[in-house]
Amino acid sequence: MKTDKRATLGGKLSAVLVAAGSSVGLGNIWRFPYVAGENGGGSFLLVYALCVLLLGLPILLAEFAVGRAAHRNTVGAYRTLAPAWRFLGYNGVVTALLIMGFYFVVSGWTLEYTVHSLTGELGRYATAEAYASAFDAFIRDPWRPAVYTVLFVLLTHGIIAWGVQKGIERSAKVLMPLLFLVLVVLAVRSLLMPGSAEGLRFLFAPDFSKITARTLLVAMGQAFFSLSIGMGCMVTYASYFNSDTNLRHTALHVTVLDTLVALLAGIVIFPAVFSSGIAPTSGPSLVFVTLPGIFNSLPLSMVWSTGFFLLLVIATLTSTISLHEVATAYFHEEWHLSRKAAAWTTTLLVGTIGILASLSVGVLNGWRIAGLNLFDALDALTANILMPLGGLCTSLFVGWRLDRRTFDEQLTNRGKLRFRIRSVLIFLLRYLCPLVLLAIFLDNLGVFKGL
Ligand code: PHE
Repeated sequence: MKTDKRATLGGKLSAVLVAAGSSVGLGNIWRFPYVAGENGGGSFLLVYALCVLLLGLPILLAEFAVGRAAHRNTVGAYRTLAPAWRFLGYNGVVTALLIMGFYFVVSGWTLEYTVHSLTGELGRYATAEAYASAFDAFIRDPWRPAVYTVLFVLLTHGIIAWGVQKGIERSAKVLMPLLFLVLVVLAVRSLLMPGSAEGLRFLFAPDFSKITARTLLVAMGQAFFSLSIGMGCMVTYASYFNSDTNLRHTALHVTVLDTLVALLAGIVIFPAVFSSGIAPTSGPSLVFVTLPGIFNSLPLSMVWSTGFFLLLVIATLTSTISLHEVATAYFHEEWHLSRKAAAWTTTLLVGTIGILASLSVGVLNGWRIAGLNLFDALDALTANILMPLGGLCTSLFVGWRLDRRTFDEQLTNRGKLRFRIRSVLIFLLRYLCPLVLLAIFLDNLGVFKGL
């Protein structure tokens, strides 16, 4: 019975599609431009690309191997492979719940922006300042953003509970390329704005003097966040892959796609940012303030902005589903709740955190954790600490503890595929990933300052 249920998520659909559905989302289009803008642009991009290649790709593959070898939720996976490592599974479930706590808030913003595009409200302002203050007023509103957050949680719940993931994933097959196309059009429009070259320079010309311990931490965190790794999501998804899936190709395709979408988002945002005099360091509001200006400069602006936000909602939905699934699969299989009860448990938990996080941007803003409001604290804690920590342990686990035969079987599909980069991968997982991750953490704690 368990296997029947498991088959419903991945089914015959390609693994690339579900994994890319998870990784491409707000992380690429909302978070990447805002953290790149806050952390120096070109130098950030360079460090980010290195993190994706040297840490992200091997750890993504490691998680795929763990998930498909164990065929279980992330806690169950580590529990069966090596009981002492099940903390890694719990770290994943907790991280998923905390990510959802703020991710649903931003998802709610995109939903509201879709509605505002349809009603024409979004086309009403003329300057970047006007958009900035409209955005501010909206996210500080005492109830509307919270309602949209809850709506998004329920939308995700509905899809998880009614088992229509297949429909969503199939439509993502068409809609994701469409989102990509719309981004290309927006990028062209943005590049044609006066003064756009400054934005390109900001995004692509690295200024090495700007690389600090913080840049490394944030770039690494963004790489983990964007690829959905370090928290059991890809372990959970890979547990639904079938035995013919080529894990290496899947990981490579997902990484390339995810990085391309982030890059494209950067090419849309930064030329327009510089052209309209918006500060690249505006933070989480950056995309929401910049995009409406680009839409306004296009003919049929309402059609573009509605279309774009609708596609973004769908890309976001395929990510929230994957986050929700981490916790739901755990409650279902480990607590032996029915799928329905498991999904409700997740929904109630994240709905509550989501409402609080949504309010923390406005009325509850005075409520601070380490100097940050709840929304920012959840964002920083998960992306900069918990996910890289999860990645560190995953690389140690697969590099040192996991039975080598199990790992080989997964990467070669029981000997059917050749595996030429085996020793490189093992080297990365055993030594390079843990050491680099550790060094970045220590650097941020100031350990290397006196050297
Ligand atoms: N990778 C997703 C994004 O870029 C966010 C996410 C993180 C999804 C972790 C699942 C797990 O939007």
